[in-house]
Amino acid sequence: MSSATPSLRLSQLQMDWLRPARARLLRIAGIGGATTVLDLGCGWGLTTADLAERSEVNVVGMDISPTMVENARANLPERLRDRVQFVQNSPDSIELPDRSVDIVFTQCAMMWMADVPSVLSECQRVLKPNGRLAMIEPDYGGMMEWPETICTREIWIDCLVRAGADPMIGRKLAVHLNELGWEHEVYFLDRYEAGLAEAIEFLAELDTTEQQRQQLLLAQKLMTEGSRAQPAHVVHLPFWMYVARHG
Ligand SMILES: C[S@@+](CC[C@H](N)C(=O)[O-])C[C@H]1O[C@@H](n2cnc3c(N)ncnc32)[C@H](O)[C@@H]1O
Repeated sequence: MSSATPSLRLSQLQMDWLRPARARLLRIAGIGGATTVLDLGCGWGLTTADLAERSEVNVVGMDISPTMVENARANLPERLRDRVQFVQNSPDSIELPDRSVDIVFTQCAMMWMADVPSVLSECQRVLKPNGRLAMIEPDYGGMMEWPETICTREIWIDCLVRAGADPMIGRKLAVHLNELGWEHEVYFLDRYEAGLAEAIEFLAELDTTEQQRQQLLLAQKLMTEGSRAQPAHVVHLPFWMYVARHG
């Protein structure tokens, strides 16, 4: 497993946190009328299975990591096996025919793609006429934290950049889409939950420096002091949600 894919436990947490956002985005993208959906950068395949559970669609989960493709196949519930398949792709090509997909979905995956414009061009190629690209991607540059002693934002940005990700992908996708001629609508995650101490565990899976580890221990201590009902801290990570169409 590379740092691009969190552990199974954390991926499950992320999947649960983003469930309401995913439901809203996929409703707007019209998953009800879709027959084929691509989950690009599927990791463990949790979102792929979730897409299949939501409707009667056929879903292709795709990832550049052969290990993750194997893991995703092994994790897939038996009842979904006739409608879900997992395929490995190369960094900037999607192993599907032209005009074969109704919706391309990504969750926390564009941020790990080295050449986003090429990937968007591939999305355009595989989408059917009137196909939709639905993306949920974070923007760590907009992370809000309080009190001041909780200061993980700069650590996130540093660790993600060093791991090869783009921590500010959320805002940048709008520019990439505009440049490539996509029409798009943007939504934001409109549900707030007090930042959970588990968020720090995501960071621990990245390569942190000794000084960063000390800062995180302090933040973790502060975060566990409050309760979920009355948190002693606030941490909010904005997620950008896009529904895009190419003329
Ligand atoms: C943070 S994980 C997200 C997994 C899943 N979407 C989820 O939300 O649970 C990002 C995944 O994108 C994959 N990835 C990175 N670049 C890719 C590319 N060019 N094409 C396909 N997958 C890619 C990584 O291997 C990793 O499994």
